[in-house]
Amino acid sequence: MYPSHRPRRLRRNAAVRRLVSETSVEPRHLVLPMFVREGASEPVPIPSMPGVVQHSRDSLRKAAVEAVSAGVGGLMLFGVPAERDATGSGAVDPDGILNVALRDLSAEVGSDTVLMADLCLDEFTDHGHCGVLDEDGTVDNDRTLQLYGEMAVVQAQSGAHVVGPSGMMDGQVGVIRESLDATGFADTAILAYSAKYASAFFGPFRDAVDSQLQGDRKTYQQDPANGREALREADLDLAEGADMVMVKPAMSYLDVLRDIAGVADVPVAAYQVSGEYAMIEAAVANGWLDRERTVLESLTSIRRAGADVVLTYWAAEAAWWLRA
Ligand code: PBG
Repeated sequence: MYPSHRPRRLRRNAAVRRLVSETSVEPRHLVLPMFVREGASEPVPIPSMPGVVQHSRDSLRKAAVEAVSAGVGGLMLFGVPAERDATGSGAVDPDGILNVALRDLSAEVGSDTVLMADLCLDEFTDHGHCGVLDEDGTVDNDRTLQLYGEMAVVQAQSGAHVVGPSGMMDGQVGVIRESLDATGFADTAILAYSAKYASAFFGPFRDAVDSQLQGDRKTYQQDPANGREALREADLDLAEGADMVMVKPAMSYLDVLRDIAGVADVPVAAYQVSGEYAMIEAAVANGWLDRERTVLESLTSIRRAGADVVLTYWAAEAAWWLRA
């Protein structure tokens, strides 16, 4: 006549719910991806990511100070160069925008936060691919690796504490580790974008970095249909010396995140990407979703699935909401 089990007992008021809550999101878990545009005197809005901008060097510094005072765990920097070429030479130029901005941030907040840099050529190439191309237009893995090695060293010299190789080239973590070690940057860590999918959810990011890409990245990023392959990618990155591994995107790949978190013996990150941001913001703008609740629920679910660290464009704002 009476139910013998009553899970509702542990939900009956806020105090008991607080006591038994399994998953927390704290400001320190969140990393803010930021864009800096060469030559910009004012921040430039990104239409498909309302609330996110391409920063000028000045506005980047200010926004970084704000994010750090909100308590975020780190910053991940992307550069938008004024000029691009076939080999992405702006990426390895110490005076390229990403490296200049790293030096700015290093001086401003370098001792108060973890400074990370996206390590990839796509923002710097005129064809928009993550590496250099063969005559037939495919991305040349091993020639690209050489450039990644150089890029890592320049980023470390410019103040990056962590480099984030995101190009999905085979062997990238090993080559980057070797070049960092050989140049005195043994302490610079590698956050490997291990399981990165050829995802439609990166759409708005193309606006964010003014990407020139024609075609797709299916010869180097993973097929969304494959889960097992993600475990192999993470294993390889760990064998090559990754200090942390990442799954990207996050919300449509929580199963992959759970699988990797179950076996990795390093911290695991997940990247809530541009399309995930745009999707929620668009629904909020229509009055269809409650912004703060939806954002926090999305972050909680990514943490619940196993992410120690979450990269999210809401990092600074969510950190303010979450401040104890
Ligand atoms: C490559 C890179 C991309 C993103 C992060 N690093 C673009 C891509 O691989 O197509 C996507 C991030 C996002 O969509 O928020 N430099």
